[in-house]
Amino acid sequence: MSQQIENILHENRRFSPSDAFRRASRMGDEAEYQAMYQCSIDDPDGFWGEVARELPWIRPFERVLDWSKAPVASWFDGGQLNASAVCLDQHADGERANKVAIHWEGEPGDARSFTYRELRMEVARFANVLKSRGIGKGDRVAIYMPMIPELAMAVLACARIGAIHSVVFGGFSAQALRDRIEDTGCNAVICADGGWRRGSVLPLKQEVDKSLEGIDHVHTVLVVRRTENEVEWNSERDVWLHEALESVSDSCVPEAMESEDVLFLLYTSGSTGKPKGIMHTTGGYMVGAYLSTRMVFDLQEDDVYWCTADVGWITGHSYIIYGPLANGATIVMYEGAPNAPAEDRFWDICERLGVTVFYTAPTAIRAFMKWGDEHVQKHDLSKLRLLGTVGEPINPEAWTWYHRVVGGERCPIVDTWWQTETGGIMLTPLPGCTDTKPGSATRPFFGVDACILNEEGQVLGPNQGGLLALRKPWPSMLRGIWGDEQRFKDTYWSKWPDGWTYFAGDGARQDEDGYFWVLGRVDDVINVSGHRLSTMEVESSLVAHEAVVEAAVVGRPDDLTGEAIVAFVTTLTGIDGNDDVRAALIEHVAEQIGKLARPQEIRFTDALPKTRSGKIMRRLLRDVAAGRESNQDMSTIEDAGVLERLRLTDGQK
Ligand code: PRX
Repeated sequence: MSQQIENILHENRRFSPSDAFRRASRMGDEAEYQAMYQCSIDDPDGFWGEVARELPWIRPFERVLDWSKAPVASWFDGGQLNASAVCLDQHADGERANKVAIHWEGEPGDARSFTYRELRMEVARFANVLKSRGIGKGDRVAIYMPMIPELAMAVLACARIGAIHSVVFGGFSAQALRDRIEDTGCNAVICADGGWRRGSVLPLKQEVDKSLEGIDHVHTVLVVRRTENEVEWNSERDVWLHEALESVSDSCVPEAMESEDVLFLLYTSGSTGKPKGIMHTTGGYMVGAYLSTRMVFDLQEDDVYWCTADVGWITGHSYIIYGPLANGATIVMYEGAPNAPAEDRFWDICERLGVTVFYTAPTAIRAFMKWGDEHVQKHDLSKLRLLGTVGEPINPEAWTWYHRVVGGERCPIVDTWWQTETGGIMLTPLPGCTDTKPGSATRPFFGVDACILNEEGQVLGPNQGGLLALRKPWPSMLRGIWGDEQRFKDTYWSKWPDGWTYFAGDGARQDEDGYFWVLGRVDDVINVSGHRLSTMEVESSLVAHEAVVEAAVVGRPDDLTGEAIVAFVTTLTGIDGNDDVRAALIEHVAEQIGKLARPQEIRFTDALPKTRSGKIMRRLLRDVAAGRESNQDMSTIEDAGVLERLRLTDGQK
């Protein structure tokens, strides 16, 4: 991190939106922005009440915020609405009925588009299939699918009938899926036979079958036919979607949901224990997703908006589905890899579909940079007007490349900081009025009271590194961890004694202009290609392998993926840490968690550096992994020789 702080400290370029962009944007005037931000802080009830009233409530809310049970917030009490109706019906029954909602493209090149009216009909039919299987309000439904239109439909169909969806990223293994299915206690799983990825089929149905062995609470597996690969079939439990759709009606009245009814669960890694089911509720989440999409992406009626995330992550929930559709936008969805069949696939899609707003992750930008400018430059990207990034700190070099090569130096870049837990964007430029600085997520979004605190809870001044904290509740905030209220309080609200200041788990500083520079996690969470993993999860997977006695996992800075996983492993006496064991361990982690968690490097060691009380000193291991000298306090180390021996293995793969 010190290297990063160094780089960022030297970054003082500023980029202003052009006058043309400013004039055409939703918020092009700094004074107006300042006034609106101040109002959102001074009078949150007034501010959010007004925004919320733009949504089509089934029954109006009576109160904006109840924070008396902090840290559990209650937003828009008394109000009823349905998230799928917000995303579909208000447009399908109005002027946007024939506007394209989704332009979808499969990896093999097949394509489908749906207008708002068509999408509502598909979702209604999907919802009726779920109902015909006895699924209803409050039931949990796991979704494990490739990026096909049916994924968006599945999500919206659950929302329509009030079932709580829990989308699991298709890159997770059967074991990881199983853990999530068990934790939610869901009674249905929606999946596809497979999905396309770099020309091969990901056998998703097969993974679902494995994940359900011995589980008796799942009575339905609804399968979308996508890749037509052979699948095993359990005729009592498994249902083909296309067959079930034949006998259902194409209208479905949206369920009236209370504002605080749970809309979805999304599992994410923390620093300890198993993944947490982050709980988001209906009213506040929709209000947050709606306003942030509109303002951060400066949505205009004729925009073609593409967020390249997977719906398996929060970015896909808030900024592919709920936020953009709530605004009646035309979105792009793409199934496959960015380099299939060639490295220009994204730019080819942008050109053909006339993408105007493009939102992706720094790790992808670094891959594009590496592949070379020519893949971008052979396409006409003149329709692009706004770019965004999310998921990890963006290095100024990648930022300026994105600006120059993709954005043709004319598109503002919104670097957006937020989390699964925050539900929506928290730190971000507003593209028409915020001057940007490469590497900074700039300023708080409306209603966000962000600051930098030290361990004691004191507010730190300009350029002092500390902990990023949020001091006010916001509508799209998490309401809890599924089934574990204590963990919710301990993880996010107990860092400081007041009990209502949110601890984000990130280190950051604010510069002399008040701009925020997020530096990365301060806990044991690693961010690999924007995917959040806990060192504990990978460690417990490694120690579950028969050859392993002990393991410590740390992140190491990586040019492409942001961070890479390095594992230090001690093996059972008699088992040699050789290449075969290494390969077996990597495969084992892939099976237990997913390929995204595979260590990039495994170092075998006879012992791990520990404190005298037996705690593994991961801070030291981070230095060893990065190949840098340590300036950490070593006074508590039990056996300093361990470190020396580890350094000698430096560089060994
Ligand atoms: O460390 C921060 C990093 O990603 C974490 C949240 O991960 P997740 O819940 O998976 O959500 C990712 C997409 C919202 C944060 O704690 N992070 C996210 N965006 C940024 C970022 N770090 C720096 N700059 C960002 N723009």
